[in-house]
Amino acid sequence: MKRLMLGLIAIALALAVPSPASAGTGGGRAPDDLRELAHKLKVYIGSAIDVTALADEADYRQVFNREFTHITAENAMKWESVEPQRGVYTWEGADAIVRNAQRNGQHVRGHNLIWHNQIPAWLTEGVADGSIDAKELRRILRDHIFTEVGRYRGRIRAWDVVNEVVDDEGNLRQSIWLTTLGPGYIADAFRWAHQADPHAKLYINDYNLEWNTAKIAQTLNIVKDLKSKRVQIDGIGFQGHLGIQYDYPGDFPAVMRQFTDLGLEAAITEADVRMVLPVTPEKLATQADYYRNMLSTCAANRRCVEFTVWGFTDRHSWVPGVFTGEGAACITDENLAHKPAYDALLGVRRA
Ligand code: G3I
Repeated sequence: MKRLMLGLIAIALALAVPSPASAGTGGGRAPDDLRELAHKLKVYIGSAIDVTALADEADYRQVFNREFTHITAENAMKWESVEPQRGVYTWEGADAIVRNAQRNGQHVRGHNLIWHNQIPAWLTEGVADGSIDAKELRRILRDHIFTEVGRYRGRIRAWDVVNEVVDDEGNLRQSIWLTTLGPGYIADAFRWAHQADPHAKLYINDYNLEWNTAKIAQTLNIVKDLKSKRVQIDGIGFQGHLGIQYDYPGDFPAVMRQFTDLGLEAAITEADVRMVLPVTPEKLATQADYYRNMLSTCAANRRCVEFTVWGFTDRHSWVPGVFTGEGAACITDENLAHKPAYDALLGVRRA
């Protein structure tokens, strides 16, 4: 009898205490897909989108619209895409992104207003040959921001107002903006973006910001400087381009807190985790850990509102074109089959 009682107590305890697997993730049924996960975590889960693939590939479109609650144009909203010739606007790609979002219950990240890359040739050449002077460049930048932000007013949740404006040494990045306009261009850009759409969340966005102390310090300076001038800045974007050949940035949660403690919201805006090819099961398991850690960092910080991957399929990823011999950075393979990283994300719970 006593043995039976002890057995019953043991069974009762086993039922009451979560198993180690569910204890780490908060228990409960695993969500069926990323959209359900996004609702459970109360974090938007997004992807960068290739507009050509969105139009031409039905399987890519279906998976994206089923899984994601947030969308970023991988290239279609960048300056060279929307104004390839001076005064000649090509909004087709950007419009397609916003239209897709409206039809599928997704929010939009506008990427981006100011960057040192993918600026149209007419602009870089004009500055280089002196036909565009500082006064005119400032006017051009203002027009660009009012035109693009104004076009999508009320339909973009968050704008990357400035992208990658700090270099890896922690200096303000050399660019036509800094060289021609001086550091005040950053505050001007935020002021203009706010005037053009007072409800959009305005972000500063960068890579290596998860761990590079020099970059973190300078970016904090920029945020504090804007706030001291009462310039509206709402968010900090951590791009999250990682590689499994490098240690995982274990300080990332503390770094995120340094920014959210200033009152900013946070987003992981371009997550991907590349590896040296060939793919092995061990590398995929490590990649899954990196993805899980990034989303867990967001889920553990009440001010982190968005986790966006930089492409959701290895079929379309910028990585192989830039890092020779590397790839397989996304959460699904070329055929859109789930990789361990996808399943790892589904296991994340709010702390
Ligand atoms: O538009 C031309 C097309 O006309 C031409 O036929 C084709 C031939 O190569 O090139 C096309 O342009 C390419 C463009 O993507 C659009 O597909 C460029 O060559 C290519 O360099 C460009 O790469 C993009 C890269 O930014 C540019 O720096 C990647 O797709 C995009 O994923 C990447 O995204 C950046 C983020 O915006 C900021 N953070 C880093 C991230 C990764 O580099």
